[in-house]
Amino acid sequence: MIPESFIQELLGRVDVVDVVERCVPLKKRGANYVACCPFHTEKTPSFTVSPSKQFYHCFGCGAHGTAIGFLMAYQSLGFVEAVHELARGAGITVPEEAKDSGAPTQEHRGALSAALQRADHYYRRQLKQSPTAIEYLKRRGVTGEIAARFGIGYAPGQRRNLADVFDDYDASGILPLAGLVVESDGGARYDRFRDRVLFPILNQQGQVVGFGGRVLGAGEPKYLNSPETPLFEKGRELYGLFQGQRAIRHANRVLVVEGYLDVIALAQHGVEYAVATLGTATTPIHVKKLLRLTDTVVFCFDGDAAGRKAAWRALENSLELVADGKHLMFMFLPQGEDPDTYVRTAGKERLEHLIAQAEPLSHFLVRELTHRIDLGSEEGRAHLLQAAKPLLQKITAPALGMLLRKRMGELTGLSPEEVNGLVRDRPRRREKQRPLSKGRRLPPSVARELVRRLLLQPRLADTFDMALLGGHDGDMALLADVVEFTRANPQILTLAQVVQHFSGSPHAVALQAAVKDTVIWEDFDEREIAEEFAALAQQLRKKKVNQERSRLLRGLQGKGLGDLTPEEREMFRRVPGAVVD
Ligand code: GTP
Ligand code: MN
Repeated sequence: MIPESFIQELLGRVDVVDVVERCVPLKKRGANYVACCPFHTEKTPSFTVSPSKQFYHCFGCGAHGTAIGFLMAYQSLGFVEAVHELARGAGITVPEEAKDSGAPTQEHRGALSAALQRADHYYRRQLKQSPTAIEYLKRRGVTGEIAARFGIGYAPGQRRNLADVFDDYDASGILPLAGLVVESDGGARYDRFRDRVLFPILNQQGQVVGFGGRVLGAGEPKYLNSPETPLFEKGRELYGLFQGQRAIRHANRVLVVEGYLDVIALAQHGVEYAVATLGTATTPIHVKKLLRLTDTVVFCFDGDAAGRKAAWRALENSLELVADGKHLMFMFLPQGEDPDTYVRTAGKERLEHLIAQAEPLSHFLVRELTHRIDLGSEEGRAHLLQAAKPLLQKITAPALGMLLRKRMGELTGLSPEEVNGLVRDRPRRREKQRPLSKGRRLPPSVARELVRRLLLQPRLADTFDMALLGGHDGDMALLADVVEFTRANPQILTLAQVVQHFSGSPHAVALQAAVKDTVIWEDFDEREIAEEFAALAQQLRKKKVNQERSRLLRGLQGKGLGDLTPEEREMFRRVPGAVVD
């Protein structure tokens, strides 16, 4: 775990405007900066970045968040990755995460990355000098332009090419770790990649994290890939994602294929929104990464038995990530074709025609489940339900889950409720995934109005009279927690830091609603906000006094004056209209 104090410090040190600006050119407008939203397609800018709140917000699609959130969304990073990326840009070191003492240090990762990059440069230069490798790529239809775009290289046939590049070839601890050299039993080192065309694998920031190497002709193994390293996990990376990000956003879909050369051929023929898994099945992490970039993921497989099996694995690994509004689709190429051969012979249009006819996940699921099952018998239908149960349990998308249960009911002759009964003992849904209640406005409450001002100027918390807190409704609890947190942490200066602290807490949803109301205030005058805050606090004070009075009056009802304690007499004196002698 990265300590929260560090994350707060980081948010205090970086400027969300700089962070966004590096990816999206911004224009100044009033106190804020605007741009066309990178998260949806639009012609007039509604994407706004506020330096005072350290927050971005799109009035078109509702995307919003802190500098960390922006990197997570824009570069499809996980939280921890985004924090590291931000810290790196700001030149601050992320404190060592406790417990994982085996985790590679930042330095370690830096050295690995540098070695891979040097090797990559070398391999690219070698391709230019190898007529046989160039001839191979030409024969496969790869143009020079696309080879350059994907940084294709060539590892010559000698055993120790890289000894020319790295002076410490035999001593370096980094080269074996990077998977660039291997050691024979006798301890002698030699290059992993020899006489192969190399496809550098880039992470989403465009850094080389590994290579895939193909033999030039026939030979075994056909592909040799880098081993997993602290920088490279196959279940996380996707080939072509860095090059394709923009096209994926633009097309609002991504085509997932199986091979390096498929991605390359597709890009060359104008289908630039394709990525490939790295010789492994599609993992939930892959799907999650892609769904952050786009709403539609189309899995493309060969039409043979192996393709169907791979498609089913992809389906199983996607179910938990399906959300209503997201589309996961499956398409199968004609027997004997892969995307590379298909796009070269049939062309972009026919391929896109097939993509347009891809089968939704739900159809594929039902089709595969009912395949080879005799629905005419009770046993067959029971079998179907049994096979469907673990899959239905994985689906957290409410509408899709319900529709599929209904469909299973139709197929088996049970009511949706009966199907539900059979499937019911599902794992509890993850709390965090609950969508924000969009549009559902709560009636204004003084506490919530106070929170909104606090989001604009967190330091107003210092002026707040803690005696006014108390009461149990949600808004009061939120107010109390925001005030307490801010008072206890003098470094909290922006909305972004407050939102960060409460993300994942039970207040997250209510706070998001307050943020949504707050971002509408484009420019604000600090003094005005402070005055409003004070006036609202005064209202709260009155409300509290009134409540106290009515409570007193209720308590005093039926009591004779003589029954009152001196304190009660004193309080009663303060009730308007009461006469105490
Ligand atoms: P070409 O024959 O060059 O067109 O390759 P392809 O991409 O069409 O090959 P294929 O469909 O056989 O493989 C798809 C992907 O699986 C490749 O891009 C590799 O990532 C992986 N792969 C294929 N063969 C091997 C292998 O022998 N070893 C390893 N580790 N991975 C392989
Ligand atoms: Mn192929």
